[in-house]
Amino acid sequence: MPAFLEPFRIKMVEPLPMTTRTERAAALERAGYNVFRLRAAEITIDLLTDSGTGAMSTAQWAALMNGDESYAGARSWERFERVVAELTGLPFVMPVHQGRAAERILFSCLLGAGRISVSNTHFDTTRANVELLGAEALDLPCADAADLTSEAPFKGNLDLDALDALLASPDAGRVALLVMTITNNLGGGQPVSLAHLREVRSRCESSGRPLFLDASRFAENAYLVSVREIGERGRKPREIAEETFRLADGAWASLKKDGLGNIGGLIALRDADLARRCRDLMTATEGFPTYGGLAGRDLEALAQGLLEVTDPAYLAYRANSTAWFADTLARGGVPVVRPFGCHAVYVDAGRLLPHIPPHQYPGHALACALYLEAGVRCSELGTLGFGRRQPDGPDLPSRHELLRLAIPRRVYTRNHLEHVAETLIRIAADPRALTGYRIVEQPTTLRHFSAVLAPLRAL
Ligand code: F0G
Repeated sequence: MPAFLEPFRIKMVEPLPMTTRTERAAALERAGYNVFRLRAAEITIDLLTDSGTGAMSTAQWAALMNGDESYAGARSWERFERVVAELTGLPFVMPVHQGRAAERILFSCLLGAGRISVSNTHFDTTRANVELLGAEALDLPCADAADLTSEAPFKGNLDLDALDALLASPDAGRVALLVMTITNNLGGGQPVSLAHLREVRSRCESSGRPLFLDASRFAENAYLVSVREIGERGRKPREIAEETFRLADGAWASLKKDGLGNIGGLIALRDADLARRCRDLMTATEGFPTYGGLAGRDLEALAQGLLEVTDPAYLAYRANSTAWFADTLARGGVPVVRPFGCHAVYVDAGRLLPHIPPHQYPGHALACALYLEAGVRCSELGTLGFGRRQPDGPDLPSRHELLRLAIPRRVYTRNHLEHVAETLIRIAADPRALTGYRIVEQPTTLRHFSAVLAPLRAL
């Protein structure tokens, strides 16, 4: 049997831009050596993100045609609400245009200056929305998460001892909520176990804190639980997802990931009063709460996507294709984060390029090389994205120097991934050919999106 078989066939095709190395070198220079500034027309394989980049199914395209565009109480809203409430067991459902809108609305109702949000790891927009309110985003990842090479199955768990210590400390009064990000995107796409979530739930109950899920990749988390967790093996991913949501007081998700949509998000809550406050804010800033900034047709496609995404055949293909890609890279000498998740492969650029120090951005150097050699775009998760700028002297480094190869859902075939793997393996065979970068211009926040850089020596 092959390592994986795509459980779909192609009905509509989208041509890919084919470029020459000379064209790519010129594009990279024009873009200030920042892949976020490249034009999509200059990219052959785009692994920048798995967010909003997936392919919809025939059933989702058909559902679009049923979109009811009524301003209030549309049929499409009713379908969306029913699908989300059945999946989550959470009765108060709100659509939003994407994940970060959910974060802003929910945190505005729950956090204020000096309060603490505790998480296994806040995604960067999650952290930004906490900090915008003057609150503190505290990450307490489990000890296993620090070792990028160990095969520990649930590196997305949080450090329960650190949580207990916090809840017994003088700072306990400032802790407003707990957030479990499933799967933990910034931590390497690692899952959280169901047993662990039950433990977190019981701490939330005994300390009177609400538990929220950032459930953007809930189906992938449920699948990884179904293959990795003793006591849960062989259970249906849908059943595991249902149980996961029922452990929480509320959840939000970017539906651009496991909603299989190109846009959209949700908030789902158990508490009527919190739901009312969120709806009031939504009405003023996002749209009437039965459409939340989306079109009726989007709600239809998302409702259908939420039903499809827990299909065991789809999830097995998703996990096995990513694992095959990661394993091909590893066997070719590219250091990759372990164990393999579903939505991305993370390359340890710090280990591959020890001659490039963090403040010369090894992950970024690898991203530029991959674009130049193969027309592939991906993103750095390292000191360029997460380092702290110092007034005089080099940046404070990020915890790791990673390159994320995110895999859009149902979009690329094995041939595409093979092309990426072969090129990266070739680059990794001669790491000293790569040079570091310096920043020429940068904004004060989220600099990786728009900074202008320059290579330290000619490429
Ligand atoms: N939470 C997680 C775990 C995410 O990965 C993202 C987005 C968001 C929240 C925000 O959702 O983009 O719909 O506003 N992650 C994308 C990525 C951008 O590339 O990983 P959004």
